[in-house]
Amino acid sequence: MKGVILAGGNATRLRPLTWVTNKHLLPIYNKPMIFYPLEAMAKAGIHDVLVITGPNHSGAFINLLRSGKDFGLKLSYEIQEEAGGIAQAIGLAEDFSDNGKILVILGDNIFTQSLAGDVLEFEKREKGAIVYGKKMATKSKQYGVIEVKHDKVISIEEKPEKPKSDIGQTGIYMYDSRVFNLIKKLKTSKRGELEVTDLNNFYVREGTMICKMLTGWWVDAGTSFDELLRANIFVAKEVSTKK
Ligand code: DAU
Repeated sequence: MKGVILAGGNATRLRPLTWVTNKHLLPIYNKPMIFYPLEAMAKAGIHDVLVITGPNHSGAFINLLRSGKDFGLKLSYEIQEEAGGIAQAIGLAEDFSDNGKILVILGDNIFTQSLAGDVLEFEKREKGAIVYGKKMATKSKQYGVIEVKHDKVISIEEKPEKPKSDIGQTGIYMYDSRVFNLIKKLKTSKRGELEVTDLNNFYVREGTMICKMLTGWWVDAGTSFDELLRANIFVAKEVSTKK
């Protein structure tokens, strides 16, 4: 299985920090944000990883990450010309995927859990997809919201006004090789994007979308200054306990 990390988008919620740089290059304590999903890929046992970013700061990513050797990875790069949505960005990985399954991690998601066991399990699965959910302290309108029965997903709604459950959709997904044909069928949403939630709902309707609950700590560091700060504090504490 190959890996795809999304590091495009305009990061308007983090301006002015992101006027002249890409959000995934901002520091999370002692490392740039993009290092965390890259390390998660290595920990999951994935070797070939595609980093997708926007045109403005793509050179900085190559300067920083180079071949990926320092992470034990083989990196490739792809440019998303405009921030047309998460699903549009995933669609750019079609050639790279070589008709195989993919693990997708959004570049602003930082978490501690190893995905290695699930990767092995998903490789054996005939078809379908996995979305990782995280139990929220309160029902949140900030994320996609997942409704599950046992581990099977019943519905996913993107930032709903009235959340049906307390399970938030994280930015970690596994897809079978049909994902690229499904993306081609997607319609642009009201905010002008191809939405990951619409993509995931193809699998939900087919009955092949499984939700795995993330244990341990997770933060979507790109949503607000508070979440960015929370990520920094968490990593700082982790580092100091390991000293
Ligand atoms: O992190 C979890 C959340 O991610 C989910 O709960 C939501 O269902 C999902 O839509 C997404 O919401 P966000 O509002 O956090 O998405 P954001 O626009 O911040 O983009 C997430 C990542 O994807 C970020 O690392 C940048 C990248 N991205 C985004 C867009 C729109 C791209 O690479 N290209 C894009 O066009």
